[in-house]
Order: sequence, then structure tokens, then C-alpha cells
Amino acid sequence: MEELIITGQTKQEKYETLLPQIASVIEDEQDMIANMANVAAMLHETFRFWWTGFYRVQGDQLVLGPFQGPLACTRIAKGRGVCGTAWQKAETVVVEDVLQFPGHIACSSASRSEIVVPMIYNGEVFGVLDIDSEKISTFDDVDVLYLKKVVEILSKKLITIAC
Ligand code: SME
Repeated sequence: MEELIITGQTKQEKYETLLPQIASVIEDEQDMIANMANVAAMLHETFRFWWTGFYRVQGDQLVLGPFQGPLACTRIAKGRGVCGTAWQKAETVVVEDVLQFPGHIACSSASRSEIVVPMIYNGEVFGVLDIDSEKISTFDDVDVLYLKKVVEILSKKLITIAC
């Protein structure tokens, strides 16, 4: 596939056209950095988020992975910020207003709302998908539903390969 084709008006419709294209792009590629890079690009291109990317678990820290958007912090400790919280809880975290989230790590002062979806394989979090918006309350149940599906597609790749 050479070009992303997104149709539909609603967020749900856009996710519906995006998901099979994500599955198709990573289907034949074994390199997880390459896959994360393309997934970040496809989500970013579709929704024009402020920041879209991955952090990977390396020991007791999250380390910046492939992303689209402005400069970001490189390392995040477990339990710190929205990303570290999603890792510690092994749960998706949606933040409607980052200024109200205690411990939020402001990589960019323009970021106002955020969603972090942990990537889980064999019961272990091996990374997170982090998306930031410059608007308040951008992310809802539709994003949770579909971004979990995106992460699931990536996690299934790990059945055969190591990250
Ligand atoms: N805001 C995140 C840090 C990562 S950046 O947004 C890219 C957090 O609180 O974990």
C-alpha cells in the first residue's frame, strides 16, 4: 500500500476505514519499530492530532519510540505522568484536561488533552500508544474502542517476534 485513503465523515467511520489499512501495512513487516512508525504516521495523518507516538518499556522506564509531532521527552519513569500511569495500571487513561491531571508531564504547553493506551503482551506492558490534542476533551469512548483495536493489531505481531 502506498497511500492512505480515508473516507467517512464521523470519527468512527474514519477509524473503520483506517483499521484494515493499518492491519495491511503491518501484516508482512516483522520490524516493530517500522510498524510503530507507520501506525503513528497513519493515525496522525488521519486525525491531525497534536502528537501521536509510542513509548517502549526499557527496564524501569518508558523510552521514546516512533512518533509524529513536536519534540517530546525521551524517558518517563513508571507511574509518572499519563504514560507512566497507564503503564503502571496496565489500563487506558483518558485525560480531558491535562492541567487537571496531577503529575502530567508537559512535553508541549500546547497539549490540552491526552489518551494513553498500554500495549500488552503475555500480561506484560511492553509499550504505550500516546496521543495528545491541543484541544480539551478530544478523546472519548470511540477513540478508546478503536485505539485499543490498533494496539491489539500491533500486539498480535509479537506472538511471533520480539519487540
Ligand atoms: N504528557 C505525557 C508525556 C509524553 S508527551 O505528551 C509526548 C505524560 O504525561 O505522560
